[in-house]
Order: sequence, then structure tokens, then C-alpha cells
Amino acid sequence: MDKNSVYRTNMIGGGEVSAISVDMDKRSIHETNSLFWDTKGNDVLGATALPFFGAFVSEEKCQLFGDVSGKKMLEIGCGSGQSLQYLGERKASELWGMDLSENQIEKTKQHLTACGLSTTLICSPMEEECGIPEDYFDFVYSIYAIGWTTDLEGTFRRIASYLKKDGVFIFSWSHPIHKCVAAENDRLVFKKCYFDESWYSVTLGESTLTLSDRKLSTYVNALAKEGFAIEQMIEESDEEIMQSSNGDFAKKAKMLPVTFVIKARKL
Ligand SMILES: C[S@@+](CC[C@H](N)C(=O)[O-])C[C@H]1O[C@@H](n2cnc3c(N)ncnc32)[C@H](O)[C@@H]1O
Repeated sequence: MDKNSVYRTNMIGGGEVSAISVDMDKRSIHETNSLFWDTKGNDVLGATALPFFGAFVSEEKCQLFGDVSGKKMLEIGCGSGQSLQYLGERKASELWGMDLSENQIEKTKQHLTACGLSTTLICSPMEEECGIPEDYFDFVYSIYAIGWTTDLEGTFRRIASYLKKDGVFIFSWSHPIHKCVAAENDRLVFKKCYFDESWYSVTLGESTLTLSDRKLSTYVNALAKEGFAIEQMIEESDEEIMQSSNGDFAKKAKMLPVTFVIKARKL
């Protein structure tokens, strides 16, 4: 490690991990993260797919999508295709997915083929032009993938361009307050500054991932700037899911949101 490296702490899932500050270099971040998702990602981070928007929040309870029959759907960061399957089984008319990782795209293809669902899949970073049609989709959504972008405003601008007028954008991500607080001996302890949006790397086993934790206002202001009106925001932990889970993560989720979800409409 560089002798000028700055070590810090961070939360990944329910646990506290050591992190190291890094520069925001888009190309190396994409290389690191696509390798992470090509190899270990899903095993390490667990399921982040519909009907769950992330830990302790579910579509069954929130009904943000509602009836999707006959609707054209695009998933940003489609992972292994579980969320596309969920919407395909609810009679969406078209399923499109895009993802940075070739392996994830291959997993989605195999999974949806096995489910008898047809999709259009594109391997690309969400920040870049990749041939997705404009003014086309009724819904663009993303379950635990938007936060990986190196260019939030640019990504929201692209997403707005893919949607029809009045189309809906729904996304979920780790709540930034959860990324600052660790559970320690039955207490919650602040470990990181909420305002710190700098980039960091975390090594989990043999895999490394690179991220930054943006403030909620950064998401809200970027949506407003790129022509979205927010219709609903979820930051509650679902009582039933918490009761069926043990351990520090559920205890933490009783005290603060670990996931947030935003539903916005293209103006
Ligand atoms: C938590 S997974 C999403 C899981 C997905 N919702 C599902 O139903 O399986 C996050 C995904 O974001 C993708 N990703 C990370 N950085 C990306 C980027 N810059 N552009 C596009 N996809 C990205 C990863 O490859 C990974 O598949």
C-alpha cells in the first residue's frame, strides 16, 4: 500500500469493514468493480433483488411498481436477473437489462431463459452511451446498483432520456446514515462523517470493491436537476422482516434506515 494511504472504516451489509481512501478514477473503478461482480459479488453481498429493494424493504409492502402488466421495463445493473424475472412474471411487456459485468449479464440470460422469459441485455457501464432507446420505457429501475455510478447526474440524465414523458424511475441503495454507524455491544456508534462522499476501496476475502457514500441530498438534488419529480421516498424498516431476522443488522434496522428507495417521475 502507498505510504500516504488513508485508512478508514465502513459498513458493508450488516458488518463493519476496513476501507482505504482512493482517487476517483472512472476507468480503474470500473475495472475493480467489474472484476468484483464477475467473480465474488453476489456471494459476498447477498440477494438484492425484487421483491426486496434491499435489507428490510419489500415491494410487497410498499407497492411502488403496482401493476406492471403491458409495461416496458429497463433495469440498470440487472445483476443475476432475479428482479427482471419478478416483473416478467407480473406480465411486463418488455424486459431490458444492462450491467457492467459480463458474467452478470450471462447469469441473467441463463436465468431468464430457464424461466421462459425473453429479454434484451446490454453489457455496459451505466454512465456511458450503450444503444438503449430514448423516450421508450414506462419504468426504469435499479435495485442496489445506482450507487456504483461514478457520475450520478450523468447517469440520471441518461435514465431520463430512456423514459417516456411521465415515465417512472425507481431505485434503491444503502441509506447513507447506515454507512456511518456501527453496532457495537448493543450500542450504535458513529464511525464515519455523513458529509464525506470521497471514494474508498474495501477488500472482502480476495475481492475488492470501490465505492463512495453520497448524502441523501446529493441524490435528491441530482434528480431535480435532471428533470425528475420525486413522488415517494421509503426509509422505513419493515417490521415483519425485522422480526424474522436475528442479529446486529436487524437491531440496527430498528433504530435507523439501512435502505432507502425513491420513486420519481420524468417531467
Ligand atoms: C446488487 S447487484 C444488482 C442485483 C439485481 N438487482 C438483481 O436483481 O439481481 C449490482 C449490480 O450493479 C452492477 N454494476 C456495478 N457498477 C456498475 C456500473 N457502473 N454500470 C452498470 N452496472 C454496474 C454490478 O455488476 C452488479 O451486477
